[in-house]
Amino acid sequence: MMNIQESFIPDPGLGFAYTQAPQEDSSLQRLKEIVQQYCPDEVRAERQTVLPDEELHLEELEAGFKTLLAGGNPFPEIPMIEPLGIPDSSGNPENPESQEPHTPSTNIEDGFGIGIPETQKLQDLHYEEVDTLNSEQIKKDFPVLQQKVNGHDLVWLDNGATTQKPNQVIDKISDYYRNYNSNIHRGAHTLAARATDAYEEAREKVQRFINAASSEEIIFVRGTTEGINLVAQTYGRQYLTPGDEVIVSTLDHHANIVPWQQVCHEKGCELKAIPTDQNGDLILSEFERQITPRTRFVSVGHVNNTFGTINDVKRIIDIAHGHNVPVLIDGAQSIAHTPVDVQALGADFFVFSGHKIYGPNGIGVVYGRKAILDKMQPWQGGGNMIKDVTIERTEYNEPPARFEAGTPNVADAIGLGAALDYVSHLGIRNIEAHEHKLTEYAREQLGQIKGLTLIGNPKNRVSVVSFVLDGIPVPETGTLLDKEGIAVRAGHHCAQPALRALGYEMSVRPTFALYNTREDVDKLVIAVRKIIGGR
Ligand SMILES: Cc1ncc(COP(=O)(O)O)c(C=O)c1O
Repeated sequence: MMNIQESFIPDPGLGFAYTQAPQEDSSLQRLKEIVQQYCPDEVRAERQTVLPDEELHLEELEAGFKTLLAGGNPFPEIPMIEPLGIPDSSGNPENPESQEPHTPSTNIEDGFGIGIPETQKLQDLHYEEVDTLNSEQIKKDFPVLQQKVNGHDLVWLDNGATTQKPNQVIDKISDYYRNYNSNIHRGAHTLAARATDAYEEAREKVQRFINAASSEEIIFVRGTTEGINLVAQTYGRQYLTPGDEVIVSTLDHHANIVPWQQVCHEKGCELKAIPTDQNGDLILSEFERQITPRTRFVSVGHVNNTFGTINDVKRIIDIAHGHNVPVLIDGAQSIAHTPVDVQALGADFFVFSGHKIYGPNGIGVVYGRKAILDKMQPWQGGGNMIKDVTIERTEYNEPPARFEAGTPNVADAIGLGAALDYVSHLGIRNIEAHEHKLTEYAREQLGQIKGLTLIGNPKNRVSVVSFVLDGIPVPETGTLLDKEGIAVRAGHHCAQPALRALGYEMSVRPTFALYNTREDVDKLVIAVRKIIGGR
């Protein structure tokens, strides 16, 4: 018999049965009993949150659980999503040979036939260290990964720079251009309506993915860099005055340093940076000392791109809010690797790029708390961001349109929506657990190589390993790895203050994603040994 904790697959059927609630108290009581009997603790804890006004089919629910426990599919009309990576009595999770062959689905609505699908309802379940993804199968969704580079199967370990795109995203963008390309919001015709609906639907997908309170808090931009510039040039220019202070962190990407430097220079403000220790962890006790009555804004990265540090942004936000200072979180490196809940964090702004989460280039997101966005002046002027224009004056639109001047990137917003669907179906917790395992495995294997120095050892980290080789320049190491078909980043990663704080100018940086396997890590380790041995 399967373990209910592992086999409680939140497919659309169970999600439906569980999230629908009874109108009558007796039904609710019965629901509680069923949940008590069959569900893991986390689900029981959530039972209070069931929606109040839908009919619940209790017999179906109970029968469904019984069938599931007996190893069957309780909802035969819904194609069962095979959790190929999960161990059961008949198959070894590490051995794809022992599983049913996987036919990649290109229809997002169908699910993907891989990993554990995850409903919004169960996103909070923590899968801890259990690696449930079958990355060998997942890889088949990514056409770019099906090629040889320099005579070797491509091993893509440059995910920190950008991630590859699954068929589901590519097809969605192609479908837009083939079938309903149109400008949005303006045209009163069928294609304009379709494009507008799809664009706004993508906005809602982003809202759900980061748990924003409203889709009006989601602004589409080109990417993280543009998003941070937008906030610096709107909120920053509006509220900073000479002598004020802005705090960033030493671990931040240049995209979260330069825009604040620029506005601080313009306004006569001081830019401070939270220091890091030699492990690559921010020293938050210093941050508590740095923040003063003149501090007007804090902007920090969620996950560092060079050591993979997961910063304690909740604590940073709490400290800043204790001084009435708003906080922007740069989520470029966290969005694809760890769950994000902007309301639970209490973030005032959260910014990320679509291309770092299997979505297209040229699309990104600024989440801004509505109360703040309402007060902010626009950045760029033009069409779409106005309510009324005369030659003398302009009445601006409400957010988010106020911050989306001109024709937006409709296709790529829709593509980003598809990417978030893809990630949600696999489950961000599952992805996090998988990547954490790979990262630790890579550190362990690389750490055994004589002449290789790992850089940084943060307490909580995700997806990134940084290293240098004795006597072999970083750029050369990158080129030699490329000869073996392995793509990594070799350079300063646009994070010079972070690397310099630990005494380095450059590093070799493999970064892991949901399609990477232990075999990919093994190939990297063999290639590094070969490079060192060849010297
Ligand atoms: C932490 C961090 N912030 C910001 C950026 C900039 O993102 P983009 O180039 O997509 O604007 C990156 C990109 O690598 C990053 O890693």
